[in-house]
Amino acid sequence: MSILVTGGAGYIGSHMVLALLEQRQEVVVLDNLSNGSAVSIARVENLAGRDVVFIEGDVRDRTLLDRVFREYPISDVLHFAGLKAVGESIEQPIRYYDNNVGGAVTLCLAMESAGVRRLIFSSSATVYGEQDSVPYHEGLPTGVPTNPYGRSKLMVEEMLRDLATADTRWSIALLRYFNPVGAHASGCIGEDPRGVPNNLVPFISQVAVGRLEALSVFGNDYPTADGTGVRDYIHVMDLVEGHLAAMQAIANRPGVSVWNLGTGRGYSVLDMIQAFERAAGCSIPFRVAPRRAGDLAQVWADASKAQRELGWRARRDLDAMVADAWRWQVNNPGGYAA
Ligand code: NAD
Ligand code: UD1
Repeated sequence: MSILVTGGAGYIGSHMVLALLEQRQEVVVLDNLSNGSAVSIARVENLAGRDVVFIEGDVRDRTLLDRVFREYPISDVLHFAGLKAVGESIEQPIRYYDNNVGGAVTLCLAMESAGVRRLIFSSSATVYGEQDSVPYHEGLPTGVPTNPYGRSKLMVEEMLRDLATADTRWSIALLRYFNPVGAHASGCIGEDPRGVPNNLVPFISQVAVGRLEALSVFGNDYPTADGTGVRDYIHVMDLVEGHLAAMQAIANRPGVSVWNLGTGRGYSVLDMIQAFERAAGCSIPFRVAPRRAGDLAQVWADASKAQRELGWRARRDLDAMVADAWRWQVNNPGGYAA
């Protein structure tokens, strides 16, 4: 049997494909390369010493999907394909709903008609919105995401719940990622954002490597220990191991299951800067800037449900996250394109 990985040429997807190959799984990747790179697939194949089937195409292309399900014996789908830039989603909301919601609709229709009903969906902690207290656990009602990207994730979650209620043959995992960072320890694959990074760790990496001048710290007057925002950063390899555990679990678990993928502890922006300074052996220039619209003071996961039900927990610490992010950046200062 084969695993279909949509968005497998992207940041998280490429690490996932590597982990699947290392588990001796057959992998089919579908990616339109709108934010991914074929180079990442070649490097993954090189690291694993095995090949994947790579199909350049769009998850909204029903004809293509039908062909993929006809040609390959797909048992499970890991659905990473989507757009993820929050600011862009505010400027181009329909593009985001088309890609993220439309993509999931087309994928489910094609899966249904092929009789494939095991799906892992890349959701986000953003579906919790702002809650009264941290940590965030899966029993909390979902909140009000502050942007179209977040709403598209919540819409897909709700659609998948309806699907699994209507047809109990489906087994679906909604995996709510906290803040994935870092890279494979080889330094050969990693996060390669186009343009100026929106997220903290790629931004700091590019400052450390001299591509950007200084980091703007978005607010130092939050009600947190040092005044800067606190997040639950999780190593991308821990995250993909969480997917492997979830895949195994839903094989015998019909319906919808929701798991947080986080470490259960938060670090501030200043903690991240200091960790990077330790890893890179240089100082990271920064200035304090106003708060970024839509940011929350502190978000971290209650990661106990995944530990209890999947036997999974994040194992890599902050120093490993930033050391691996840094190794990738130093080895590939211009990303995959260079
Ligand atoms: P990414 O942009 O690196 O990877 C997404 C991949 O999907 C890219 O390779 C892109 O080319 C591809 N893609 C986009 N639209 C497509 C389409 N219509 N058809 C086919 N391929 C398409 O992003 P990532 O960080 O690897 O994120 C993967 C998933 O996880 C996304 O769904 C994202 O929303 C979700 N997520 C990411 C984070 C994060 O911080 N990185 C946090 C929470 C959730
Ligand atoms: C953001 C998105 C979230 C998305 C996630 C992954 C927002 C409001 N949230 O999460 O929906 O799922 O990315 O794509 O955009 N920071 C700085 N300076 C920077 C960048 C970030 O100080 O240049 C701070 C932020 O204020 C925050 C922390 O660093 O406190 C982490 O930011 P980021 O990496 O963008 O992640 P989130 O905001 O948690």
